[in-house]
Amino acid sequence: MNEVVHGGYYGGLTDVIDFSVNLNPLGTPGELTNAIKTCFKEGVLQKYPDYRYTELTSSIISFYDLHQGDVIPTNGASEGINAVLFAIRPKELLVIEPTYGNHVYLSKALGINLKHFLMSEETSRFILDIHDLIRSVKKLGKKSLILWTNPNNPTGASSSSDDILSLALEVQDKAYLLVDEAYVELSGMTGLLNVDELPNNVVVIRSFTKTFSLPGLRIGFIYLRNKEEALKIKSILPSWNINSLAECSIKRALSYHEKELHTFIRRSVKEIARLRTEFADLLKSVGLKVFNSVTNFLLIKHEGIPTELLHNELLKKCRIFIRPASTFYGLNSYYSRVSVRNTADNSLLVKCIERCFKGL
Ligand SMILES: Cc1ncc(COP(=O)(O)O)c(C=O)c1O
Repeated sequence: MNEVVHGGYYGGLTDVIDFSVNLNPLGTPGELTNAIKTCFKEGVLQKYPDYRYTELTSSIISFYDLHQGDVIPTNGASEGINAVLFAIRPKELLVIEPTYGNHVYLSKALGINLKHFLMSEETSRFILDIHDLIRSVKKLGKKSLILWTNPNNPTGASSSSDDILSLALEVQDKAYLLVDEAYVELSGMTGLLNVDELPNNVVVIRSFTKTFSLPGLRIGFIYLRNKEEALKIKSILPSWNINSLAECSIKRALSYHEKELHTFIRRSVKEIARLRTEFADLLKSVGLKVFNSVTNFLLIKHEGIPTELLHNELLKKCRIFIRPASTFYGLNSYYSRVSVRNTADNSLLVKCIERCFKGL
């Protein structure tokens, strides 16, 4: 198997049950699907988007009540992460690991010195020692960047806003904090967007990809209070980085269906929590170790069965795709990540594991 850096790639296969991407198991809300259809029918793809994204930005500001900082729409969270790396160009990037690795290639290309702060694995969770982290950050040089994914992918663990903010304040004179909140809405956490005194060195990344199960639309945003950095980020992003269908449909849905979409998010959090508990219990019942998660995926450990074998067997026997987690820094080939899907799919995965690896 080639190195896996993202889920959702099936090498040309169709009709697979995909546990490798972490989307909302409730799917896309009807309000957004309708908005996409309406925008398409109106012929938005035959037009350029507004290169300043004025109305789109206003709709995001009002949906999340963000009146104090800058909102910068991006082509998914991925573009947001890259744009911040480009704009800040830190000498050192400290990454809280194991985590999503979107930054790795760009850091190499930009000559950024990549450092890792590994969370410790304890029974069924990954723990971050904030005092230890602060000590590591104090050793960094000036103009460093810390990447903190919260909730974290692939562990599913969460950190408190208080810990993140205390670190930000502690290192205000030397480091920026990039907080990737791609999964915050599906976990029911509030995140940092509405923190009253968000420090100037914090940059928040959000995405509509996971929340509304729309990986193909490619839209998210950056939020920060630092005007100078915001200007730099905006000038780095290419013109028309959001396509006009994404621009129009998100703007329309957020503006006309604010209440319904907030209700959808609340309903998703509840349903994901229920499905996650049910799924975790099933996975444990066949002998797997399951890490505590606050969001819509689970990290599992299957000692004795290499992830490549598990992946290949599930694909061959049941057309099920999972995400081998061995490519995450700090994990080895006995870890995999599975998204939380509906009850029927989740049971199918567990039955298939049982079938392939009897007596696990
Ligand atoms: C933590 C995290 N951040 C960002 C992304 C990328 O999100 P997007 O598809 O919005 O670019 C992912 C996708 O898996 C992710 O897991």
